[in-house]
Amino acid sequence: MNSKEQKVIISTFEKEVCEGLTAFPKYLSSKYFYDEVGDGLFQQIMALPEYYLTRAEYEIFEKHKLAITQSFDANKEGFDLIELGAGDGKKTKVLLKELLNQDYDFVYKPIDISENAVDGLINNLNHEMPKVTVEGQIGEYFEVLDRLKHISDRKKVIMVLGSNIGNLLHPRAIQFLKKLCNAMNPGDLVFMGFDQKKHPQKVLDAYNDKSGVTAAFNKNILTRINKELNGNFDLNKFMHWETYDPENGTARSYLISTEKQTVDIDDLSLEVHFEVWESIHTEISQKYDDDIVKWLAEESGLEIVKSFSDSNNDYKDYLLKKAK
Ligand code: TRP
Repeated sequence: MNSKEQKVIISTFEKEVCEGLTAFPKYLSSKYFYDEVGDGLFQQIMALPEYYLTRAEYEIFEKHKLAITQSFDANKEGFDLIELGAGDGKKTKVLLKELLNQDYDFVYKPIDISENAVDGLINNLNHEMPKVTVEGQIGEYFEVLDRLKHISDRKKVIMVLGSNIGNLLHPRAIQFLKKLCNAMNPGDLVFMGFDQKKHPQKVLDAYNDKSGVTAAFNKNILTRINKELNGNFDLNKFMHWETYDPENGTARSYLISTEKQTVDIDDLSLEVHFEVWESIHTEISQKYDDDIVKWLAEESGLEIVKSFSDSNNDYKDYLLKKAK
């Protein structure tokens, strides 16, 4: 990353922290969880017994890799496999391996908000799967979508795995899907994971594990403000809180101030006051069913081609195309 890009990212961070902590109710964007420490914590989350999502999607890939890769490029005409929010790429490797084994002609283009994750993934793939051509990019979804159109004129398969789409409430998800749709040519595909509605306790447990890793992950945003913006958040005076509304399928993460306090963020010349039990909203993890996914697709000019699910029906990956 060159220094100009670095500066833009830092100033967005400053601006958004300032906006979120002076708003009522307070909020911070979960995209700032993911620095080197946050990436490590998220890897720990993915390995937690409570966090079923990663294992479910891994199972889907293992079980259906032949059908999935075939549906990407049935005529073997060659394509770009673009992954938004690639992270450590652990699940994707199952598909990459299958694509290599079946002799598909493809270039893998992982994109992530975390420079650390993209660098790590490229190094890892160069080492483990030297036959895969990888071209990584750093950026956030909406900005990357603008670049997508011009990425190449080959057929595109755009993957958005994990709970990435789930970080957006429906109106923003539709905005995002519409942008995806606009960046697609006829024949291009989207392959997207949608975590399914299920026993509410299972959702709550996945986002509130007993060992406290999720709490540490959520609090990492405060650590980043302390480190990068000279803040003095006392992490012991905030607690992680999770809610799940089975009616609309939205899980929400909060940080809650356990006492009345004032926090200074020197680089922003900002004093932030907290009442006792005041919250900072940090994350949304939306849960879906077939009807909601169908509705989201229709609203965005897309159409479901097929879906793949794990044996518990906890999680589904949908293949989407442009609607006619
Ligand atoms: N957004 C991801 C998800 O919904 C990552 C995540 C896991 C997360 N646990 C979290 C985000 C807890 C905030 C708080 O699965």
